[in-house]
Amino acid sequence: MSDPGGPDRPVPVVVHDDGHELAGVVHPGESWAAAARRTCASLHAEPVPVDLSGPVKVFAVDHDVRVALRAMVRGDLPDVARWRAEPHVQRWFASDGEPTLAGVTERYGARIDGMSPVRMWVVEANGRSVGFVQDYRIGDHPEFAVLGPDPDAVGVDYAIGDPRWTGRGLGVRVVWAWAVLATRRFPAARTLFAAPDHRNAASLRVLARAGFAAGLWFDEPNAAGGVDTVVGHTLDVATVLGR
Ligand SMILES: CC(C)(COP(=O)(O)OP(=O)(O)OC[C@H]1O[C@@H](n2cnc3c(N)ncnc32)[C@H](O)[C@@H]1OP(=O)(O)O)[C@@H](O)C(=O)NCCC(=O)NCCS
Repeated sequence: MSDPGGPDRPVPVVVHDDGHELAGVVHPGESWAAAARRTCASLHAEPVPVDLSGPVKVFAVDHDVRVALRAMVRGDLPDVARWRAEPHVQRWFASDGEPTLAGVTERYGARIDGMSPVRMWVVEANGRSVGFVQDYRIGDHPEFAVLGPDPDAVGVDYAIGDPRWTGRGLGVRVVWAWAVLATRRFPAARTLFAAPDHRNAASLRVLARAGFAAGLWFDEPNAAGGVDTVVGHTLDVATVLGR
């Protein structure tokens, strides 16, 4: 992926760390994340994206909030049912069945038990469960082949279920924590994929900030028998994350 400023112009990187603003550039063949790590003041710090959508790739070291993903277990399902019933989640997950304990057990139970290629994750912020992520290899779902040429691409859906954790910039951290995990679990994946509804402004913005590029719009059948228009987004692993 070339720099919109021109193929020969180095991509600038800025890392905010403890009141310092450290500036660098991406070296040839290096990912944005690797450049941020190299630019960072603290040796063991892991910079996370603030905004990768502009010409300058902005990262920060967050010393306050730790975001992690863990495999979902059946004991999480009451939380998941509560999150799914929150209006800000239900609006975008309406075609995923009833947001009740029975409904989410039916939809996610087999996935948790490893009986489906879709994997379920719980998002933890400072050790507190605050939301969920589901992911799948595109090639495991023949009906998704239209989404792109890479069968090893990994697709994702996500939700911060606890409304107290929305609107605080956590979304980009959730997507990034997932992306780091996904590239380890799927070493053959050259692209990561998400397709939010075109009206889901917060989700579109989160993906842009995390380094995804918007692509094709396409229609998906919805629960009401109509279609929702979603926007395909891809993240180029080598450019953004590296290995
Ligand atoms: C979508 C979601 C992950 C976003 O995470 P978040 O931490 O709440 O979002 P942020 O606070 O980082 O906001 C992201 C951006 O969207 C903007 N935004 C938030 N709500 C918005 C709205 N209703 N309309 C327009 N912009 C909005 C914010 O101002 C911010 O913009 P900025 O980056 O320019 O500052 C989260 O709100 C969520 O889980 N929602 C419900 C489930 C969902 O929509 N999942 C996505 C399905 S693909």
